Amino acid sequence: MKQRRPLSQKTTAIAESQTLALTARAAAMKREGIDVISLTAGEPDFPTPEHIKRAGISAIEGNFTKYTSNNGFHDLREAISNKFKKENDLQWEPQEILVSSGAKHSIFNALQAICNPGDEVIITAPYWVSYPEMAKLVDAKPIVINTTDESGFKVSAKELRSALSLKTKAFIFNSPSNPTGMVYTQEEIEDIAKVIADVGIYVISDEIYEHLIYGNAKHFSIGSIDAIRDQTVTVNGVSKAFSMTGWRLGYMGAHKDIIGNAAKFQGQLTSNACSISQKAALYALTSPLDEVRRMRDEFERRRDYIVGELNALDRVTCTKPKGAFYVFPRVDELYGSSDGTFAIRNDVDLCEYLLVEGNVATVPGGAFGAEKYIRLSYASSMEELRKGIERIGECFDKLRS
Ligand SMILES: Cc1ncc(COP(=O)(O)O)c(C=O)c1O
Repeated sequence: MKQRRPLSQKTTAIAESQTLALTARAAAMKREGIDVISLTAGEPDFPTPEHIKRAGISAIEGNFTKYTSNNGFHDLREAISNKFKKENDLQWEPQEILVSSGAKHSIFNALQAICNPGDEVIITAPYWVSYPEMAKLVDAKPIVINTTDESGFKVSAKELRSALSLKTKAFIFNSPSNPTGMVYTQEEIEDIAKVIADVGIYVISDEIYEHLIYGNAKHFSIGSIDAIRDQTVTVNGVSKAFSMTGWRLGYMGAHKDIIGNAAKFQGQLTSNACSISQKAALYALTSPLDEVRRMRDEFERRRDYIVGELNALDRVTCTKPKGAFYVFPRVDELYGSSDGTFAIRNDVDLCEYLLVEGNVATVPGGAFGAEKYIRLSYASSMEELRKGIERIGECFDKLRS
């Protein structure tokens, strides 16, 4: 029999999402009856609000169950246009909006619309796991600028400028950030926008955590800066703010040429996002934000708790995030230690040790391009967080250099 021919080199070389892999591993351990606390989740632990679920049910009952226009049905694009104008000072009309199957899908569509093979895409680390892999999937080269907790995980305009080359095509910007929870100020964003305006590259601004922002931090949309309006793709979605991760509904607003390219690409691949989810999203975006605020307040309470507890641990430092629902503590002082049997050389060993010895699932910082850290999600109940932190503390106490 002939040997099978080799599969695609490109997709074979793409990294698996470590966050999804670890979430699946923790779930498998739970199925085996092990009492695992999973702090890996990238989704709110609250159910989708009742009124939004009702909108989905009446979409089915009303037979809104067929293909819609590829770009999203008009009423939803109009609602997104209004949301952009009201909340973000972004002037995109319904024809300048593309609705897709999640913000992840929107980001990939945007990269497809913008990039040619060999183009460079600038990403700041710690980054969301999918950005570099998506850049590679469109045959572009991810160029990573490293940031640390010392600079609040932010990139300066100067650092951005020095990463530019003639091949730079796009900059992926994410505030509030996954995994650090960092939020840029308006002034910092304006400085960055000056660099973008000077060189004519595109910005893909991932604003999926826009509503999950704490204390006096404020969200500012980079695309609202006039000088770079037509170079900016603003991506958002209903997953995080409305606890609708499974509905798979995201969207982007951008110049009509970008939307045109992205819509053609989507039209050949997936067509419209799920019609039922579109109706539910319309309802989410046009209803008062009371539920969103309630979830936000609860996340803020948990953030304060977990940051306090982590900083009380020996050899751990944790910057207080201003948004999203993750903490990204620095743990590299623990590298080189051991509990007598388990040697901790790096972030991967540490997370493995926490999972096997403490039954707490966390994600190694290396998945986000920052190996001195680990990521914990606080999208879990207070009770789970308390148990998780207790177990982490006990595990770390056993580690000796
Ligand atoms: C920074 C960031 N962008 C985009 C997404 C994807 O969101 P969606 O569920 O809308 O595809 C996530 C989900 O984890 C995320 O953390």
